[in-house]
Amino acid sequence: MRRKLVVGNWKMNGSIAKNKALINQLLARLQNFDAADFALCLPYTYLFQAQQLLTGTNIAWGSQNISQFESGAYTSSISAEMLKDFNCKYAIIGHSERRTISHESNEKAAVRVTRAVNAGITPIYCVGETKLERESGIAKKIVEAQVLAICNLDHTTFERAKNVNMVIAYEPVWAIGTGRAATPDEAQEMHHFIRVLIALRDEEFANRIRIIYGGSLTPNNVCNLLTMPDIDGGLIGRSALTADDFSKICEIACDTTQCLI
Ligand code: 13P
Repeated sequence: MRRKLVVGNWKMNGSIAKNKALINQLLARLQNFDAADFALCLPYTYLFQAQQLLTGTNIAWGSQNISQFESGAYTSSISAEMLKDFNCKYAIIGHSERRTISHESNEKAAVRVTRAVNAGITPIYCVGETKLERESGIAKKIVEAQVLAICNLDHTTFERAKNVNMVIAYEPVWAIGTGRAATPDEAQEMHHFIRVLIALRDEEFANRIRIIYGGSLTPNNVCNLLTMPDIDGGLIGRSALTADDFSKICEIACDTTQCLI
């Protein structure tokens, strides 16, 4: 049984005052939830605050990207080593919003994954097709190319990725922020496909890698999605911004048997 993982992607939201209130609410509600893993991925500017508030709790934290470079003259970039300074456990890599805004390729995303694992940070590597790609019948082809970028990592890097328990997030672009999640069957089919691709490289890792779902995951659909066999948790945008919604999703992740009632 894979332990479920629920990650809040706050995107470009928050302020010092709002973060403090939300994090304190979450700490209170999640304090007895011990059957799943939780994390918040905040804007870089708030990682210090996250470290202050979350150290020693059951909520980990991480960044929403990572530089492809190690250090040097790369204005505005944040390196893996800098993130390590703030004890980031996770880094989201290859989010579709980054792929769109900065035309990030699979190859560059793979370099970022390499930077992360070299620093001991767990990548949450995002894959997913656009609406047009799905409608054109090439969704699996697109996701396959995205996953293969990771499967083709050199031996040392792949072993490091295994050691830090790399996570894959399937986030169909057409479902993100639209209020229309993938159906459980649509998501399950792609999650299973991703697991099969990983198995071609490493069967043992394929069985234990957590493949989480993102794209309009809410308290209303969490039961249907998280009870599918290959869905190991969620990467949550909007519903991560309110304590009620996020804690409800975390509660279900701890015990999906309550979905059967
Ligand atoms: P929403 O949950 O707002 O659709 O966002 C999903 C997402 O992009 C998480 O990374």
